[in-house]
Amino acid sequence: MTALVNCIDSGSQTFIDYINQAADIIKKGGVVAFPTETVYGLGASAYNGDAVRKIFIAKNRPVDNPLIIHIDDPDKLGECSTAPPPMTWALANAFWPGPLTIIVNKAPEIAPEATGRLNTAAVRCPDNHIARALINAAGVPIAAPSANSSGRPSPTSAAHVLTDLDGKIDMIIDGGECSGGIESTIIDLTAENPVILRPGLITAKQIENVLGRPVAFSKGHTAGEPKAPGLKYPHYAPLAPLTIVDGSPVETAAYINGAAEASGLPDESIGILATDETAGLYRRGVVISAGSSKDPASVARSLYGVLRRFDVLGVAVIYSEAFHGPGLESSIMNRLEKAAGYHIVTLG
Ligand code: TXA
Ligand code: MG
Repeated sequence: MTALVNCIDSGSQTFIDYINQAADIIKKGGVVAFPTETVYGLGASAYNGDAVRKIFIAKNRPVDNPLIIHIDDPDKLGECSTAPPPMTWALANAFWPGPLTIIVNKAPEIAPEATGRLNTAAVRCPDNHIARALINAAGVPIAAPSANSSGRPSPTSAAHVLTDLDGKIDMIIDGGECSGGIESTIIDLTAENPVILRPGLITAKQIENVLGRPVAFSKGHTAGEPKAPGLKYPHYAPLAPLTIVDGSPVETAAYINGAAEASGLPDESIGILATDETAGLYRRGVVISAGSSKDPASVARSLYGVLRRFDVLGVAVIYSEAFHGPGLESSIMNRLEKAAGYHIVTLG
């Protein structure tokens, strides 16, 4: 049985009771899904290898794919890491609590299961009061990947978690919809030069401004062993095949309208992920706007929810517009490209 508890109103009488119940589950070696500002996480005590193993089983996650260790206070970095380099503190001061995950050398107390037996640990202090209250009440760092079944879009609501993990975990804390919508940026500080392993809600530019030096991106999906072990596995996939169409708004709509026509499928079997600005250009299909192209944060917030909505609607194919721009657009595209299995039609 999975208990679903409502903590949306932090002023409610039951809020503290529920947080304490969830913390007890963690202390006793159970697993709890909880909201963060990015996506929902599925947490267990990072000090308890048996508890951490339950996360991998519930998600059907490959055991070599390490988890992110969540702390409730930046000063507790020392509980997860030995001798973090000075750059760590510069980034922690600038971005914690918040959606930045920092790879550092692992402290011996962290269970090897949590880090996929690597000597390094991914650490982050989330900017969500429920997440931090839970970690604080549990009294241990919480190891937590996203609370989806492996390979599925990350969950941005308690309902998404329930769809994937009902009956497989002890509790879900409903904290409403996640404000960020895509996962944290991951930066590796264990090598000589900092490297972004996964783009996310904090941009490379923001990080470069703090460090005063350029940061490189690792090429997660190209040949060779990716630095973040999880990046070699399929990700974020909706049930229907997804194609990204990359062109001007008018060209893109013309291509998708034509493909929809040629498919012979009824409108209700064709999902189209568009924006507020472009939704009116489509003549066929179920058109859902992920947000405004002028506000990429709105698109990030809705992206996984729209992909999961197409699952519920049972569409047979999905088309998505591409996103380009100076801010979060590249992180949005990173997720979309994976969700599409890199199936992209480039126009023009
Ligand atoms: O926003 C987020 O980061 C969310 C919330 C719940 O905090 N968590 C999340 O976790 O996205 P997950 O497990 O879905 O993604 C973690 C990624 C994986 O690609 C994993 O391989 C990588 O972090 N990772 C974890 N530990 C690592 C390490 N020591 N070295 C390199 N990559 C690591
Ligand atoms: Mg994940």
